[in-house]
Amino acid sequence: MQIQENISLKPYNTFGINAAGRFFTTFTSLDELEELFTFYTANKLTNTLILGGGSNILLTQDFNGLVAKNEMNAIEVVKEDTDNVYVKAGAGENWHRFVLYCIEENFAGVENLSLIPGSVGASPMQNIGAYGVEIKDVFYELEAYDIQEKKLITFSNKDCEFAYRESVFKRKYKDKFIITSVTYRLNKTAEYNTSYGAITQELEKMGVQELSVAAISQAVINIRQSKLPDPAVIGNAGSFFKNPTIAKEQFETLQQQFSKIVGYRINDKEVKLAAGWLIEQCGWKGYRKGDAGCHAAQALVLVNYGNANGIDIYNLSTEIMNSVEKKFKVFLEREVNVI
Ligand code: FAD
Ligand code: EPU
Repeated sequence: MQIQENISLKPYNTFGINAAGRFFTTFTSLDELEELFTFYTANKLTNTLILGGGSNILLTQDFNGLVAKNEMNAIEVVKEDTDNVYVKAGAGENWHRFVLYCIEENFAGVENLSLIPGSVGASPMQNIGAYGVEIKDVFYELEAYDIQEKKLITFSNKDCEFAYRESVFKRKYKDKFIITSVTYRLNKTAEYNTSYGAITQELEKMGVQELSVAAISQAVINIRQSKLPDPAVIGNAGSFFKNPTIAKEQFETLQQQFSKIVGYRINDKEVKLAAGWLIEQCGWKGYRKGDAGCHAAQALVLVNYGNANGIDIYNLSTEIMNSVEKKFKVFLEREVNVI
């Protein structure tokens, strides 16, 4: 294991932000991870940044600690019963590669989550979700290295306290655990989820006669490619903000003033608003200041046209939050992890 000093983290975050990391390394096994913490203690370091694909972070400053990229790869079936197959994947596996493996094997459950950038290990961090499915729907358990106790702990679905773009790892256990593997419970017989309107339309456009996990995956890929910017072309971290949840009464009041406001009822009392619509209505869609901007096809995505730094993007996000709050009295919360 080679530890580099003072390197640029630009290749390791999809925003393409040029911040430095004091120490940087990759690790491929638990042994290497333990070795890393021996180094960490010996050098009296006090903070660690664990990276997967770097597709959900915004670096606003140099990182004066240890940056470690998880490359623990492997995919194996560990258990099987009548209805389900349990697949364990190393945290460093590329998420979409794992989805493609499932599709090839005809294991159902993750096809709606096709083409989400990043690693298996980060998938429980914010309970990744798209097109009507969240990781909590297929999550069985994970193993994580307890940085303080220096041992592996197993977390069940319940232990993770999943919620919309949330888990214990973003809250009470923030920076306390390193996820080393995740086991998913997949279905042998598919229950297709085409509840997200655009999927049905796309399947029709594709001329699909019979549903399959492969067809749904392709439909999702087509939709995503039509509106989300490719980080290889333009720096971004997907949705910068969460879609906010407000009380039904507040939604009804807003509807009187803004008849086209986009909201989805999530229960009897609450409505989830499309933050992209709110941001677009405030005039930000396609906005650019220097190299920081708001994407022209999806206002929820902030972009780096080349040489923006983390503060430029962060300041733009604050301006957007302020204007949405002023116009709609709705508070936007950042979804991306600000470092
Ligand atoms: P990183 O950015 O490397 O890390 C994210 C956070 O998790 C950091 O705090 C990091 O320290 C921590 N972390 C990472 N790995 C570990 C580990 N093994 N142990 C402990 N902590 C860890 N997200 C969605 O939910 N739905 C989408 O539809 C979606 N679409 C996107 C589209 C684009 C174009 C982009 C760029 C991003 C999108 N995202 C989406 C966000 C992102 O892909 C996910 O959040 C993804 O899970 C991040 O994975 P990563 O490996 O890149 O995480
Ligand atoms: N909209 C606008 N203008 C915009 C963008 C969106 O009016 O510029 C409105 C449209 O009415 C549209 C609605 O918002 O119908 C919803 O848009 P979209 O289907 O693109 O989804 P989203 O709510 O903007 C969420 C997730 C995405 C996920 C998609 C698909 C969050 C924060 N974002 O976006 O996740 O891929 O749904 O399920 O929940 C991510 O987390 O990084 C991410 C990309």
